[in-house]
This record gives sequence, C-alpha cells and structure tokens, in this order.
Amino acid sequence: MLEVAFFDTKTYDRRSFESVPPKDGIKWNFHEFRLQADTAKLAQGAKAVCVFVNDKLDQPCLKILAELGVRMIALRCAGFNNVDLQAAKDLKMNVVRVPAYSPHAVAEHTVGLLLTLNRKIHRAYNRVREHNFALNGLVGFDIAGKNVGIIGTGRIGKITAQIFRGFEANVVACDPFPDSAWAEAKGVKYVSFDELLTTSDILSLHAPLTPETKHLLCENTFRKMKRGVFIINTSRGKLIHTKSLIDSLKSGHVGGVALDVYEEEEGIFFEDRSEDVALDDVLARLLTFPNVLITSHQAFLTEEALHEISRVTTENLQKFDRNEPFLSGTVLT
Ligand code: NAI
Repeated sequence: MLEVAFFDTKTYDRRSFESVPPKDGIKWNFHEFRLQADTAKLAQGAKAVCVFVNDKLDQPCLKILAELGVRMIALRCAGFNNVDLQAAKDLKMNVVRVPAYSPHAVAEHTVGLLLTLNRKIHRAYNRVREHNFALNGLVGFDIAGKNVGIIGTGRIGKITAQIFRGFEANVVACDPFPDSAWAEAKGVKYVSFDELLTTSDILSLHAPLTPETKHLLCENTFRKMKRGVFIINTSRGKLIHTKSLIDSLKSGHVGGVALDVYEEEEGIFFEDRSEDVALDDVLARLLTFPNVLITSHQAFLTEEALHEISRVTTENLQKFDRNEPFLSGTVLT
C-alpha cells in the first residue's frame, strides 16, 4: 500500500480523488493545511506527497521530506513555479505534474466572464432577487462584429479564439510561435502585439507567466489600447501591472475587466476570507469598480478537469509504486 500525504485538500479534491478508479494500492492522508517547511513533518510515513499551486516546496521543505523517506512529489496542477526542481533533483526525488487537464474549462470560463461583465448578468441577478426589474445601467454590446485579441494561442487561447469565432467576432492573435494552419482553418488572423493592442475591443490573455510576459499589460501598453477596451485575464495575475490597470479604469480608458487571477492572489484566493477585515488594499480597490468582475482562480474547476487531474495523478503514483515509467509529458525530474 502506497501512503500519500495530500496537502491543501478541499472537499472537491477529496471527492474526486476518492472516486477515481482504480484507487487500489493507495492510502490517502488528506491534510487541509498547506505543505511548507514547518508542516513537512506531517508527511511522516508517506512515500509520496500530492500538492497544489500554493504549497511551498523549497529546499528546506524538500530536505525534510527526503529525510522522512518521501521519494515522489505529485503536483495536481500544471504550473510548477512553487517547487525547487534543482533541489528535488539533488535529493533524487521524482516530480510529476498534470500538464493539461481541460483547456475547454478555462476557455469556457473566459467567455463566461466576458458575457457576465458585458451584459451585467451578475448585477441583474441581484436586482431581480430584490424585485427590482429596472434595466437602467444594464446596457451591453454585441460581441458579433467586435475585434477580439487573443494573446497566446496555445491550448487555451486557441479554444477561446474558436468560441469567439462562433459569436461572429473578428479574432486576431499574437504568439511568438504562431500556428498558421490553425489560424487559416479557423478564420483567425495573426498580427503584431502592437496591432492587437491598438485594434482590439476585447483583449484576452492566454500566455504563460515568464520573465518576458511579467507585466505585459502595463502603463505603456494600456495607453495604446482602444478607449473602452474590455480585458479578460484567466492566465496568471502577474501578466498585468494591477496599479496601472486601476489608473486606466479610473480614467475610463479601460471599459471593463474580468479577472480569474490576481497579481498577489497567493494566500487570498481559494480561501474563505469573509471574516477578515485586512484584505489586500489593491484588490479591495479593484473590487470597488462596478465594471470589474473577479473570480477566485476557478477557471479550471469543472468535473471533467478534476477527473483528469485525479486520473493522471493517481496513475503516476501507481506507476511510481510499481517502479514503472511515468505517463509521457508529466515528468519534471
Ligand atoms: P500553452 O503552453 O498551451 O500556451 C501558451 C501559449 O502562449 C504558447 O503558444 C506560447 O507560445 C504563447 N506565448 C508565450 N509567450 C507569449 C507572449 N509574450 N505573447 C503571446 N503569446 C505568448 O498553455 P495553455 O495550456 O494554453 O495555458 C495558458 C495559461 O493559462 C497557462 O500558462 C496558465 O498560466 C493559465 N491557466 C490558468 C488556469 C486557471 O484556472 N485560471 C488553469 C490552467 C492554466
């Protein structure tokens, strides 16, 4: 029986990991707290740990795990910026991840955010529940015929572009590695980053966070955008310089913003902070705008994505236990 210490457990994780067949041969020890150096000791008895985006696997944490006999780290997410891979390698630990679980989940949430923000569905929902049936302030715009700019045409960006084509929008895109055959087949046009900025009515971010993409949208780039532009970010918070975004919202240059990610989301998103008065000042300011819609990094959260995350993670843990090669594309060390 392979004992796995499972950190930062939420009820939906537990439900999906306990229901994925075949689960034989694995004993899950679910912990609600996060894994970091001062909680690592609680992995005692486990040969593997299963972690998420906010667990902090730095060198001190990995060293404690290695001393306890942990040999395998299974990330139940795609990103791995929270793991010191070199330290894991030096300690001869296996690290695997789930590179793609459901690009559709993220793309569909992206479009859902835009529809909600544009047609003010969140505001209408609250009004009608209070028997306020007035329509003042709820005017939106047709997406058909608008220019939609997709930044990053990987797995998620492509599906988002295709959904917008279904709305009969003009879709332009930019990517350092364009896929011209896909673009031609789907009626998408690749343009330069600058052209995309200056022509888009709606702009959607799907590039990964790298040193080059950090603050891709900043004071300089906001200035180039069309007045009234709607921006959606379901990628990573640090792609946007939030303080400049707030300035652009205050001046009315940016017409609406939908975010599933936020620059300083760590320690805030995924948690119930409704009793906490000390909310991050920048996030608190963003939440005061009627034309800003924020969800708490939930774009991935569909039954299908959770199922795929638990399937891939469970299979890799079983392969580790049987000393078999891991699933292709999932290995980090
Ligand atoms: P991917 O790796 O398939 O595609 C990323 C694309 O961005 C690539 O085509 C790449 O060439 C392009 N790119 C890189 N630098 C760029 C730049 N400077 N300008 C324009 N394009 C650039 O990644 P995938 O699966 O499509 O995911 C995209 C992002 O979505 C991830 O990096 C992640 O941050 C985010 N994500 C968010 C989730 C959520 O729940 N909100 C869940 C999963 C992913």
